Amino acid sequence: MSRWPNLPLARTYLRAPWVVLFALGGCCAFAANPSPALGLFNGAGGCAASSCHGSVQARRVLRIPQNEYTIWVTRDKHARAFQVLSNEASRRIGRLLDESAADPKDKIGAPSQAGKCLACHSLNVPTEKKALSFDASDGVSCENCHGPASGWLGAHTARDWKHEDSVRLGMVDLRSLTHRAENCLTCHLGTPEKFVDHAMIAAGHPDLTFDLELFSAVMPKHWVEPADQPWRSIQSEMVGGAVQLRESLLRLQRRAATEQWPEYAELDCFACHHSLTKPEESWRQQVGYAGRQAGVPQWNESRYVVFRSLANQMNRDSLQQLDSEMTKLAHLMGHLSGNRQEISEAAGRAAAAAQQLAKQFESATFDRGTTLRLMRGLAEDGARISAKGERAAEQSAMTLDDLYTAYSGTDKNNDTPTGKAIAGLFDLVNNPSAYSAPRFAAQLQKVNALLAAEKTPPPAPRP
Ligand code: HEC
Ligand code: HEC
Ligand code: HEC
Ligand code: HEC
Repeated sequence: MSRWPNLPLARTYLRAPWVVLFALGGCCAFAANPSPALGLFNGAGGCAASSCHGSVQARRVLRIPQNEYTIWVTRDKHARAFQVLSNEASRRIGRLLDESAADPKDKIGAPSQAGKCLACHSLNVPTEKKALSFDASDGVSCENCHGPASGWLGAHTARDWKHEDSVRLGMVDLRSLTHRAENCLTCHLGTPEKFVDHAMIAAGHPDLTFDLELFSAVMPKHWVEPADQPWRSIQSEMVGGAVQLRESLLRLQRRAATEQWPEYAELDCFACHHSLTKPEESWRQQVGYAGRQAGVPQWNESRYVVFRSLANQMNRDSLQQLDSEMTKLAHLMGHLSGNRQEISEAAGRAAAAAQQLAKQFESATFDRGTTLRLMRGLAEDGARISAKGERAAEQSAMTLDDLYTAYSGTDKNNDTPTGKAIAGLFDLVNNPSAYSAPRFAAQLQKVNALLAAEKTPPPAPRP
């Protein structure tokens, strides 16, 4: 990969007379263009200089360690997101989609040049939105998340410049956990313009699952959360959970309103993709089909059941609206020949209720005791969650892992019995077609027993 796709051009930009570099605590600053155009993209090269965000080591001169570009380019899969569009898997996806295209104009051609793929795998913006020339090869880069830099790039290095000033000039406010989750989910769940559906999945695209806190850690984070909010990761779990639920309901609202319905990717994948066993060994027959027609695939309610069990520990009353909308929606989804229009409308109402909760959790406070309560609530709900299918089980494992990491103050979770039991949950979703709800529920019960033995939380939280 070329780290700096238009090296000559970018250098010219940096050497241009109107770009004045000052030594501002070791950070470069572009002279503030008197009235910079707002909303244009510069490409990752504009952030890469070692005196800006491309320092190899974390620096201590400014609040910002300045090694963000280096972390991204060396460790973050986003920097490789364009490259994967030329690999074997992508070529196969492209070929299978083209072979099955109903209309020749639906063919996508080479994925590395297809708008359908570039939309999520690169900074794919029209030429008139580019402040300088760059191509897609940087993958998912700074401005995919932070927003177009033209408005604030020049000014944001000034000493008394505030984050809010940048936001005013077009930066996405990723400090807000709601906006952060929304931003990730544009690609990790999809929008009306860019999406991953069952056709793409059947052609080989990975199914999209997400958990704000866990995925941020895996990226890995190139930022430090504010020191005065030690329980921010729990807040991110709650806000992220609510926003993800809301976005998934809005996606259902859209999909149910189109001709491409039923959309299999809205259902529990392993309701269909599992092998048959003898009736006496079938946990699905044991659990039964409460609330839906026998044999209709389970709806993928993973984002609801897990989030609900957490939110229930925080404020039972505020859940009423969401619960009542979700009950109606679940009934409609249990009868797939049901009215698409009704499904779409019900999903829209449930999404509004989820948004209310996202707002509440943005301003709620969390501590170690709450974290323990959240974990216990989730583990106690084990039977209900695991019966909702593999995706619900997986979401609960990711969530417990986040909560326990914050609770124990270390990411070496495997050193404790509880940490080991949580790791055991992941083992049970490794082969999703062989998923067994009773086994997952039993493991959650083990976690619950270990959590019950936790004393009132000792004082020392994470550093
Ligand atoms: C809605 C956004 C979106 C669209 C559109 C999209 N992708 Fe992806 N793609 C993702 C995300 C997000 C991941 C990472 C999923 C994960 O690991 O959780 C991914 C992962 C992949 C992977 C696996 C990468 C790896 O490291 O193993 C391949 C291959 C891929 N996409 C190819 C394609 C192709 C080809 C297209 C176009 C036909 C496409 N994608 C369109 C969002 C998208
Ligand atoms: C996949 C999304 C994503 C990408 C790509 C990304 N960032 Fe970030 N970045 C974030 C999030 C989320 C935060 C945390 C929000 C915050 O602290 O403002 C953050 C925080 C930062 C911060 C700290 C801001 C502060 O006020 O503490 C800097 C600096 C930064 N990113 C620079 C970069 C640069 C430079 C690149 C490209 C090399 C980049 N980021 C790419 C998501 C991203
Ligand atoms: C512009 C689209 C886009 C945005 C926005 C985005 N991602 Fe991604 N993300 C992708 C794609 C595409 C991949 C697959 C890259 C690959 O595998 O090469 C990916 C991969 C990842 C992976 C690696 C997953 C794995 O299987 O290893 C993590 C973790 C991740 N993203 C976290 C985040 C987080 C956290 C945010 C928000 C702060 C975010 N992403 C925002 C498109 C995006
Ligand atoms: C309503 C039933 C149903 C649901 C739900 C469903 N699928 Fe499928 N899926 C099918 C059918 C039918 C095929 C086509 C199989 C064939 O061509 O033999 C298929 C094909 C596939 C294939 C390609 C064939 C293979 O075995 O590799 C993959 C991968 C796949 N689905 C994954 C998923 C994922 C992931 C989900 C959830 C997001 C999902 N499916 C949800 C019925 C379903």
